[in-house]
Amino acid sequence: MRIDIITVLPELMQSPFNDSILKRAQEKGIVTIHFHNLRDYSTNKQKSIDDYQFGGGAGMVMMIEPIDLCISKLKSERKYDEVIYMTPDGKTLNQGAANELSLKENIIILCGHYKGVDQRVRDLFITREISIGDFVLSGGELAANVLCDAVIRLIPGVLNNETSALTDSFQDDLLAPPVYTRPAEYKGVKVPEVLLSGNFPKIESWREDQAHQRTKERRPDLFNK
Ligand code: ADE
Repeated sequence: MRIDIITVLPELMQSPFNDSILKRAQEKGIVTIHFHNLRDYSTNKQKSIDDYQFGGGAGMVMMIEPIDLCISKLKSERKYDEVIYMTPDGKTLNQGAANELSLKENIIILCGHYKGVDQRVRDLFITREISIGDFVLSGGELAANVLCDAVIRLIPGVLNNETSALTDSFQDDLLAPPVYTRPAEYKGVKVPEVLLSGNFPKIESWREDQAHQRTKERRPDLFNK
């Protein structure tokens, strides 16, 4: 997979890609990340990419021209499956959408700032608008980092068996069951007996019960699906 990220703050976004699973995914050649500084596509002397909004009101709006120049250049080089815009008024990200995106070849992610982008950018270039939750961040960059992490770990070959995404919370609309490691007893608090039993069918059934119980208590919306 190739991910092209369009942002005014590329430095802000880089470090999550330089560690752990995202780093390994790149080393294995499974994903490549390309940052594009939107200011490089500004056509004015000040390298500005935003302007006052028509009709008045507080807050600047990101202009269409630099975004068009950047997206058009990328599209002239290869075909893209999705051009995603990170915005709090997009569709809320969930595991299903992450699964779907993990199967794409090439995607562009546009990070919004200020009051957002000129609506014509959304109308003309964007194929999907994604929010990471009902709260407003200072910009789309951290949201794009979250999206990339959720998607990249699901690309076949990124995780090994031990870290398999198949047992993650949400993968089957259930929260994950509780987990324990050594010691078997800590300050009088014991690990559930069944986990030490070596009886794997019984352990599996205990985990299923726990996942159901947890989901019912914490996320009745998921449970009732
Ligand atoms: N930009 C600002 N807030 C955001 C959010 N919650 N999700 C995606 N992009 C954003």
